[in-house]
Amino acid sequence: MNEQEIINAENRLMANVFSKKPIVITRGKGALVWDINGKEYVDCTGSYGVALLGHSHPKIVEAVCKQAEKLISCHAGYYNDRRAEFLQKLTSITPKGLNKAFLSNSGAESVECAIKLARKYTGKPEIIAMMGAFHGKTMGALSATWDKKYREPFQPLVPEIKHVPPDNLEKAKEAISDKTAALLVEPIRGEGGIRVPPSGFLAGLREICDEKRILLIFDEVQTGLGRTGKLFACEHWGVIPDVMCLAKPLAGGLPLGATVAKEEVMSSLKIGEHSTTYSGNPLVCAAGCAAIDLLIEEKVAERAAMLGAHFKSQLENLKSEHHIVKEVRGLGLMLGMELKFDVLHVLFKSMENGVLVLDAGRNVVRFLPPFVISKEQIDKVISVLDVVLKEEENARSRDSPAN
Ligand SMILES: Cc1ncc(COP(=O)(O)O)c(C=O)c1O
Repeated sequence: MNEQEIINAENRLMANVFSKKPIVITRGKGALVWDINGKEYVDCTGSYGVALLGHSHPKIVEAVCKQAEKLISCHAGYYNDRRAEFLQKLTSITPKGLNKAFLSNSGAESVECAIKLARKYTGKPEIIAMMGAFHGKTMGALSATWDKKYREPFQPLVPEIKHVPPDNLEKAKEAISDKTAALLVEPIRGEGGIRVPPSGFLAGLREICDEKRILLIFDEVQTGLGRTGKLFACEHWGVIPDVMCLAKPLAGGLPLGATVAKEEVMSSLKIGEHSTTYSGNPLVCAAGCAAIDLLIEEKVAERAAMLGAHFKSQLENLKSEHHIVKEVRGLGLMLGMELKFDVLHVLFKSMENGVLVLDAGRNVVRFLPPFVISKEQIDKVISVLDVVLKEEENARSRDSPAN
């Protein structure tokens, strides 16, 4: 198929739910991707954070090819060597006490499991999430997601899921009633604009949950596995939840979600109460084993911290040069640059200039690059943004001289 045929096929045959950019990406390596015409892009989207280890990492490719020859599918009703190995590796890196997992296929599914788990373990129905949160788009996860553009068309949503203002311990405490099962929180809000909480917030939530005897669930789907400069973002504040949701880079790019919980919490789910046909698929678990080995051997978190500090200081420099930049936020390689206006045009202009970046809400340019991104590639991203921001500034001052 040529470029236009591919675009036509997706537009005609695929549910029209994605806001499409007009390029066809056919190849990737490390922090780079190429379109069908051979044009190169520095990928700061990392496929929405999935490609943390880099595109087509040779060790992931090798693990997948080897396993594909041996066994691709095996229902979790049977035991499997790769699945057992993956579970051992996963629970060897998760925070202390989180040592029993349910394996699924996506971030939203990992949240679904956490919600069911909280209700089952506590025997109570209510989940308290944060305003501004994003937890996915399946019905349970969607009910905990805040943005009304995602929620409103699908009401009524799952009952007894409510929202409180983020970063506010008083409000969280007030909201807890005798029917509350859990607090569900992203340690750093991703879609919500790369919002790092104030220093005592997560520790305060932990105290409240202990006092009220409810579960603390961290959604580390975007922040987990080295992205923020620690293996898990909750380590920045030394707080351990009762349940943790993981996905995105967990299998080096293949679809894998995991809900990891304290043994007694996960054991409240009995046979048949939760499942998915693909749970612990051997091919994906082989990729997951290789991904966890890489996380450790290649010191992904340390490198994300080091490169992230460089990236962030460069973004700060852009802020000091461009008055349309309001704020730079984030930790490690999870960064955001808030502009004073809608960022969509900046996304498209950067793409034309060989740099892929994401949005996070309307006004924030989000960066989730692979940890293998080089300093030179970061510098290229910065110089492209420098030009694009200058153009935006000029265009805006032309349109509104008083601006
Ligand atoms: C914090 C968080 N939770 C859950 C999800 C949902 O993950 P998925 O798109 O794999 O269902 C996302 C996706 O961006 C996310 O950022």
